[in-house]
Amino acid sequence: MNLSDISSTADVRIPSDPLLQVIGQDEAVRIGRLVGFQRRHLLLVGPPGTGKSMLAQAIASTLPKPRQEVLVLHNPEKPERPLIEIRTHPVKKTLKQPQGELLDPMMVPAFVSEKLGFRCRRCGRISSPDASSCFFCGADKYRRIRGTFEDLLVGPGAFDKEERVHTTRIRDGREELIVYERRGSRIALLTQKELAKMAQMQQKAAYKVLLPIDRSPFVQATGASETELLGDVRHDPYGSHPQIGSLPYTRVVPGAIHEAHEGVLFIDELSSLGRLQRYLLTAMQDKRYPIAGRNQSSTGSSVRVDGVPCDFILVAAVNFNDVPNILPPLRSRILGNGYEILMNSYMPDTEENQLKLVQFFAQEIVRDGRIPHAEREAIEALISYARKKAKEIDGVSGLTLRLRLLSGTIKMAGDLAVSEKRNMISAEDVKFAIANSKPVEEQASEKYGSWFKASQSDFGFKREAGGSEVG
Ligand SMILES: Nc1ncnc2c1ncn2[C@@H]1O[C@H](COP(=O)(O)OP(=O)(O)OP(=O)(O)O)[C@@H](O)[C@H]1O
Ligand SMILES: [Mg+2]
Repeated sequence: MNLSDISSTADVRIPSDPLLQVIGQDEAVRIGRLVGFQRRHLLLVGPPGTGKSMLAQAIASTLPKPRQEVLVLHNPEKPERPLIEIRTHPVKKTLKQPQGELLDPMMVPAFVSEKLGFRCRRCGRISSPDASSCFFCGADKYRRIRGTFEDLLVGPGAFDKEERVHTTRIRDGREELIVYERRGSRIALLTQKELAKMAQMQQKAAYKVLLPIDRSPFVQATGASETELLGDVRHDPYGSHPQIGSLPYTRVVPGAIHEAHEGVLFIDELSSLGRLQRYLLTAMQDKRYPIAGRNQSSTGSSVRVDGVPCDFILVAAVNFNDVPNILPPLRSRILGNGYEILMNSYMPDTEENQLKLVQFFAQEIVRDGRIPHAEREAIEALISYARKKAKEIDGVSGLTLRLRLLSGTIKMAGDLAVSEKRNMISAEDVKFAIANSKPVEEQASEKYGSWFKASQSDFGFKREAGGSEVG
């Protein structure tokens, strides 16, 4: 497609692959695809608004869906040490509860079938345990609870039909404990072994899903706190008090490193993580990281869950000046098992690249969903704005790739067209937006000459006298 064939952004085909929507960063996109495919790490270095976050999200979208669901289980022996169970999907048929041996009510000792409500105590015949009187002789089938006191308490006509009967039997010359249990119209015989298994499964049933199978493959961590990154065990004022407290496993909260298991953990401004970088490094090495209560005065602090999986792809972003503030072993970890990419801040002014910009305009419009397409003259105005910005900010002749800037301009132009009930963004809308949308970078460069100089003056050096009065 040539630029001259395009009459509006509606003519542009937008790639469905999110990676191909990242324009002007071919190297980063190529590496990004590898990173997803091979599960490597990635450090993105570059100026704001060039697509670092967008690329990280696009990488996550190339990953297969998570396959592991992670559960945290109650540990009956040691409630402060909940256990982790990983279920790999598709889950194989869950273990069935032991059935025991299913018997006909005729096959069990008479006192058992009586207690379970099958056998009539008077005529000895078998009928449904749901019927309170014998189908054959009409006698009350269950022993009426005796004693006036019980009668008062439970009311007349109450019966003591039992669910289970504990007894013994002789097997191989030895007496063993067994249980008969009512199962609909049949009776199950359960041995000690089967009973133990059932009890174990019931205890195991106390669990909470820590990482659901349908979690997002993209997790962004700000590193604002240790608990956000590494997880926590919430405080319960009643602790593990047996009646009013909550069991520790219910209070376990995953960190971003865990939520990103099998996905992408995106960290913006990696260096701002400070000492937390060290924990991140450990997590990347071990691919498992314990969750513990992090507040010393909290009832959660005695709780610890070991072996919580955190096998993530780290995609980290920093701006150029902060590269030296990355913890050296973390950086070498990324390099040793991944890539570092410097994002482009501009691209050569060729027709091919102009077309890429047009694709970007169309993407922004479609993604926004509230603004109309841009007509040809508007496209041209936006392209020359991209040219102007490359010159102003980077001092080159080319097209800027600091696209957040342009994104804002397009939206403002679009809003203007909408407010005037026009069905296309015109060149005038774009010019108006350019004149009126001034991100701080632009305001700063008007004041100080360039964003670069502005950021220097932020740090207190090279500040020109009276600089703040310029513009
Ligand atoms: N290379 C690009 N291709 C297409 N769109 C882009 C590109 N770069 C930026 N954009 C647009 O600008 C928006 C902001 O980009 P993004 O958040 O990815 O920038 P960033 O590099 O992460 O910036 P920051 O350093 O400020 O976090 C994106 O949502 C997208 O609309
Ligand atoms: Mg970002």
